[in-house]
Amino acid sequence: MDIEVVGKLLSTLPADDDHPYRTGPWRPQTTEWDADDLQVIEGAIPPDLDGVYLRNTENPLHPAIKNYHPFDGDGMIHVVGFRDGKAFYRNRFIRTDGMLAEQEARQSLWAGMAEMPDWAVREDGWGARRRMKDASSTDVVVHRGRALTSFWMCGDLYRVDPFSARTLGKEDWNGGFPYHLGVSAHPKVDDHTGELLFFNYGKDAPYMHYGVVDEHNDLAHYIDVPLPGPRMPHDMAFTENYAILNDLPMFWDPELLKHDIHLPKLHADTPARFAVIPRRGQTSDITWFEADPTYVLHFANAYEDGDEIVLDGFYQGDPEPGGEGITDKWQKAFRYLALDHLQTRLHRWRFNMVTGAVREEQLTDTISEFGMINGSVTARPHRYVYAASGVDGWFLFNGVVKHDLRTGAEESFFLGDGVYGSETSMAPRVGSSGEDDGYLITITTDMNDDASYCVVLDAARVSDGPVCKLRLPERVSSGTHSTWAAGSELRRWHETDTAAAAVGL
Ligand SMILES: [Fe+2]
Repeated sequence: MDIEVVGKLLSTLPADDDHPYRTGPWRPQTTEWDADDLQVIEGAIPPDLDGVYLRNTENPLHPAIKNYHPFDGDGMIHVVGFRDGKAFYRNRFIRTDGMLAEQEARQSLWAGMAEMPDWAVREDGWGARRRMKDASSTDVVVHRGRALTSFWMCGDLYRVDPFSARTLGKEDWNGGFPYHLGVSAHPKVDDHTGELLFFNYGKDAPYMHYGVVDEHNDLAHYIDVPLPGPRMPHDMAFTENYAILNDLPMFWDPELLKHDIHLPKLHADTPARFAVIPRRGQTSDITWFEADPTYVLHFANAYEDGDEIVLDGFYQGDPEPGGEGITDKWQKAFRYLALDHLQTRLHRWRFNMVTGAVREEQLTDTISEFGMINGSVTARPHRYVYAASGVDGWFLFNGVVKHDLRTGAEESFFLGDGVYGSETSMAPRVGSSGEDDGYLITITTDMNDDASYCVVLDAARVSDGPVCKLRLPERVSSGTHSTWAAGSELRRWHETDTAAAAVGL
């Protein structure tokens, strides 16, 4: 393994930090690494695994003004690239405006999710709430061969090189980027059309917008999506012809909001509403459907089935867990992040475009979230969802569950006690012939070995365990969202003789 330290950022976090989301498996990194020819600890790197696994991570560098929330940390992108039976690794902080300003100031300048906006040092800021730091630490997608990182409560999108993880600047969509509201956590890329679909939201009417960026990177479509008030949608879905947005009954308490207090509350008597919009449709073309009240953090996929739109996502059985019986103060404070408390289960909604009827059903008893599919079936009927299983009481993943939605069968892989994974992406094998013909990739934080590994599973035989396990240069912080980009989607990938040359370009 060829390893080099290429950067080190200033951290002012105290050595005796006791916050569980800044220590242990969430201990942040300050070092940026280049590593080539990753050491294979177990198995062998499949020669038909070709492309890059990208993972975003919240990685704080300074104490919060008062209360740190794990969504506040600065973004760091990890890249594990596979080509010709070899693998490389890069990690880089995303050079956001906020992160650079705080490096200069040697302190936090903006108020986090668990803080009041007027605690912020700076008057400006990002996020639907405003006066937050856009850490760009939530998701990462690849559009037109370039990675884009996002912030969970709407912000800029940062362009990141998918080989070197270097920040290339802010995405501007050829002048069309809606900087005043930003873009929400999960912009969606349709690899079949080259489009990117997104929404944003805010505290002023119409409270939501929906947009489409075309294959030339122009903002080709942008419409109002009027809502009854400020909402907190996190994810969306799309089919071949429709986009699906949501207005869910978990939102800031309107009375408290008048006093600038942003406290999400479940409005249990209010239905969940889903907006189905023709992908280039107007506001007047929106069809709303009502369903059982819940909150959904992530959807897995959607597709058309005759007159119906089918939407699969993770229904929360208890979006507002009470915390009774939780004795640990940190577990109680962050119970909203634990999958077992939220009771997140894969769920299917069917919206009939002709009759307006809604049918919904729980697809499994198993608790999981952060579901990924084979990207080639995005917006098409899918059979498999690969999701994370959670550690009871904590925002940590301890394994992968493969849900077979045709048979109801489930297959899982447990990473082991003290080993935590990230969102597991599905990488179709080169020349793939079936939906589960490929690999599942995750990065682990292994507290037993004080190390991190990139673990690759066979998507068709998940419970068999790793096909290969590769050592990373240091233990990385636990993190969540990830994506896979095949080498065939990456413009520079096949213009060079080796992956290392592609990185160096
Ligand atoms: Fe998310």
